[in-house]
Amino acid sequence: MGEISLEEKFQNTIDKESKIEPKDWMPDGYRKNLIRQISQHAHSEIIGMLPEGNWITRAPSLMRKVSLLAKVQDEAGHGLYLYSAMETLGLSRDESLEQLITGKAKYSSIFNYPTISWADIGAIGWLVDGAAIVNQVALQRTSYGPYARAMVKICKEESFHQRQGFEIMTNLAKGTKEQKEMAQNALNRFWWPSLMMFGPSDKDSTHSDQSLKWKIKRMTNDELRQEFVNKTIPQVEFLGLTVPDPDLKLNKKTGQYEFGAINWEEFYNVIKGRGPCNKERIAARTKAQKEGEWVKAAAKAYSAKKINRRNTKAA
Ligand code: 3HC
Repeated sequence: MGEISLEEKFQNTIDKESKIEPKDWMPDGYRKNLIRQISQHAHSEIIGMLPEGNWITRAPSLMRKVSLLAKVQDEAGHGLYLYSAMETLGLSRDESLEQLITGKAKYSSIFNYPTISWADIGAIGWLVDGAAIVNQVALQRTSYGPYARAMVKICKEESFHQRQGFEIMTNLAKGTKEQKEMAQNALNRFWWPSLMMFGPSDKDSTHSDQSLKWKIKRMTNDELRQEFVNKTIPQVEFLGLTVPDPDLKLNKKTGQYEFGAINWEEFYNVIKGRGPCNKERIAARTKAQKEGEWVKAAAKAYSAKKINRRNTKAA
C-alpha cells in the first residue's frame, strides 16, 4: 500500500479521536484557525473582566464582593491558560495582545454591552457564563490537546460562575417589586446578545465546515445556541421572568424551544467595533498594557540577572 500523505495521516489521527499535540505535524490552515479561535477566546476572557470589574467596588454586600472578586480573578486565569495554549502554536502573547488593542483580533461581542445595574452581574454569570459553559463543554472534545485540556479546568470554574449569577438573579426575582423589575430589565438587555455569543447562523458561518472537519468545533453555532435556549428557558420560568421574545414557544413534538429572529445587523455592528462599549473596552486594555510595561521589564531584568548569576557560578 502506498505511503499515505501527511494530511491523510493528520486527518486519520483526528478521525480516530486522538489529540493533536504541539510537536505534531499539522496543516498551516489548522494552525491558523486554532490561533484565531484560541486567541479570540483568551481576549474574551480578559475583556470580560472589565464589565464585571465595574461592580467590585459597588457589590451590595461583602459576600457578593468576595464571589465577584473570585470570578473576575478566575477569568484572568482562563485568559492565561488560553494564551499559553495559543503560544504552543507559535503566536507570542505580546503579538496577540497587540492584535487585540489594534482591533486586528476579535473578542466576544457580549462584552461590548454596559453593566448598568447589579442585576447585570447576575445576568452575566447566569446567561453569559451559562452560554460559555454550553460552548466550552463541547470544546473539551476539541482535537487540539492543549485547548481541550484547558477547557476541562475552565469548565469546572464556569459552573461556579453560572451558579453565583443565577443565585443573584433568584434573590432579585424573588425580592421586592423593584428588585424583580431590575432582574427583568437585565434579562431584557442581555438575552439577545447572549444568543449572539454563539456566532452567526450556520449558513453564514465562515469557519464552521472546516472547523467541524478538523474537530476544532464539535457542534455548529446553531446547535450550541439551541442547546443553550432549551436549558435556559426553564430557569427563566423558575425565576418568574419573561424573555424579550414574543415568538418564543415550545415545540411539543421536538421538545425544542423555537425563538424569534436574531438582529444580525446589531451583531455585525458590534463585532465591527460599533457596539455600545467597544471603544471603552479597547481603551481600558490599551491603558492596562501601557501601565503594565514596567512589570514585564522588571520580570525580564530579574530573570536575566538570575541566569547571569547561574552562568557565572557554573563558569
Ligand atoms: N463575538 C465576536 N466575533 C464573533 C462572534 C462573537 N460572539 N461569533 C463569531 N464571531 C466572528 C468569528 O470570529 C469569525 O470572524 P473571524 O473570521 O474574523 O475570526 C466570524 O464572526 C464568523 O463566525 P464563525 O462562525 O465562522 O466563527 P467560529 O467558527 O470561530 O465560531 C465561535 C464562533 C462559536 C464563538 C467560536 O469561535 C468559538 O467557539 N470560540 C471559542 C469560545 C469563545 O470564544 N467564547 C467567547 C466567550 S468566552 C466567555 O464567555 C468567557 C466566560 O468566562 C464568560
